Amino acid sequence: MNIYQDIILDHYHHPHNQGRLIKPDKSGKVSNPLCGDKIEMMIDFEKNKVKEVKFHGEGCVISTASASMLTDFAKSKSKEELKKLNSKFIIKMLGIDLGMTRIKCAVLPLEALHKLL
Ligand code: FES
Repeated sequence: MNIYQDIILDHYHHPHNQGRLIKPDKSGKVSNPLCGDKIEMMIDFEKNKVKEVKFHGEGCVISTASASMLTDFAKSKSKEELKKLNSKFIIKMLGIDLGMTRIKCAVLPLEALHKLL
């Protein structure tokens, strides 16, 4: 197992920012049609920047780790910065080779984020 796989497993077992916001400014929910897993992202903004971010749902190792790492990254970022993120960023963030099926898992949290922006 390499260092990236260790990091992904750690995020899966101890996800950062998992939970719900009481009355989020924005929320976005998506599901993966290939497996039925769902993820909802919730954000409170302050002066156009992310003040608080949470996610919840059902997901695999890759989608949960991706959501955990993406929500860490999103803190204090502007809406414009977050809109620019793409699948290449997610793949680089995860740091492992992903097949086409797993890429869909990896970008699911990003789709939820883009849906709310
Ligand atoms: Fe469902 Fe990965 S298997 S999101």
